[in-house]
Amino acid sequence: MAGGAPAVWPPVAGAGAGGAFAARCLGAVVENRSLGSLVWLTLEVPGWPGAVPGQFAMLQARDSGCFLGRPLSVSAQYGEVVSFMIAPIGEGTRELCALSVGEQVWVLGPLGNGFDLDLLTAGPGRTVLVGGGVGAAPFPLLLSALAARYQQTPPPADAPKPEVLVLLGFRDASQACGAGPLAGAAEELEAAGVSCPGEVATEDGSIGRPERVTETMWRQVRPGDRLAVCGPWPMIEGVAKVCACIPDVQVWYSLEAGMACGVGSCHGCVVTLADGSRARVCREGPVFSSAALFDRGCFDAPAGGAS
Ligand SMILES: Cc1cc2nc3c(=O)[nH]c(=O)nc-3n(C[C@H](O)[C@H](O)[C@H](O)COP(=O)(O)OP(=O)(O)OC[C@H]3O[C@@H](n4cnc5c(N)ncnc54)[C@H](O)[C@@H]3O)c2cc1C
Ligand code: FES
Repeated sequence: MAGGAPAVWPPVAGAGAGGAFAARCLGAVVENRSLGSLVWLTLEVPGWPGAVPGQFAMLQARDSGCFLGRPLSVSAQYGEVVSFMIAPIGEGTRELCALSVGEQVWVLGPLGNGFDLDLLTAGPGRTVLVGGGVGAAPFPLLLSALAARYQQTPPPADAPKPEVLVLLGFRDASQACGAGPLAGAAEELEAAGVSCPGEVATEDGSIGRPERVTETMWRQVRPGDRLAVCGPWPMIEGVAKVCACIPDVQVWYSLEAGMACGVGSCHGCVVTLADGSRARVCREGPVFSSAALFDRGCFDAPAGGAS
């Protein structure tokens, strides 16, 4: 790690779904690679306990003009080397995307609940990953985790070959470079005996069909599938409308929301669930089931911070 900074301070109570202990510490940039209009930022994070796919971290450049960190999904991890896929849309993300190798970043995480691999792989249907734009960010880690799972517990020889289908929608070819980091993880799945086809669409038609990922879903999603979905709220809403028309589809959505603390204290990220109860996206989420989010047939945005 660069700079001889204090390694871990302070410990933050409240682990994510993996039971790993979240901590705030200074990481150092080991790679900053352009992915078209996105950036693949890799940090060495001392003491990183490992994230469940779908968990996030609050990141803030050490020399930052921003008061708060920004929530970013963990895209890949190899021990203490952790990668994030970032869209530079505002001050906080632009600062992070401008960092050079050796510069330091405050990292608080892993945070939130993440996707439940048991639920995503239960039953005879396929696992389907649906991402919009930088919503593809958690999927390299999710694919790797699924590969590790199938390597540890291969499907019975007489069972049909399992399939993980990846559907991604981007604005244009430049943003579609965000599909790149999923390729290696898809190969890990193929090596584990799982077929991993995918389809990429762009709104301007520069890569794949000229359509939104929700239109791709109409062709691809089948009864019995289990979906992990990540993207901006309008896409989540569109996915929910498609899924309401396909029988026996189960869906888990990773929500984006404005966040201040990231650890459940400020209640700035609260959404209202279908049953009227309130949940913090940073703590009870960011992953929520379709049943928790939506009354069937009702697709109003949850009240609160969903953005
Ligand atoms: C759990 C979680 C995981 C996330 N994972 C990633 C990730 O892996 N990669 C990534 O690039 N982003 C991710 N985001 C979104 C990211 O946190 C925001 O883009 C970021 O906080 C914006 O900060 P900023 O300072 O750059 O922009 P700001 O200055 O805060 O905002 C710039 C503009 O973008 C708008 N905006 C801010 N946040 C969002 C948002 N979430 N969606 C749409 N518009 C927004 C603002 O209204 C404003 O107009 C995630 C968000 C959550 C909650
Ligand atoms: S961001 Fe503070 S409670 Fe969620």
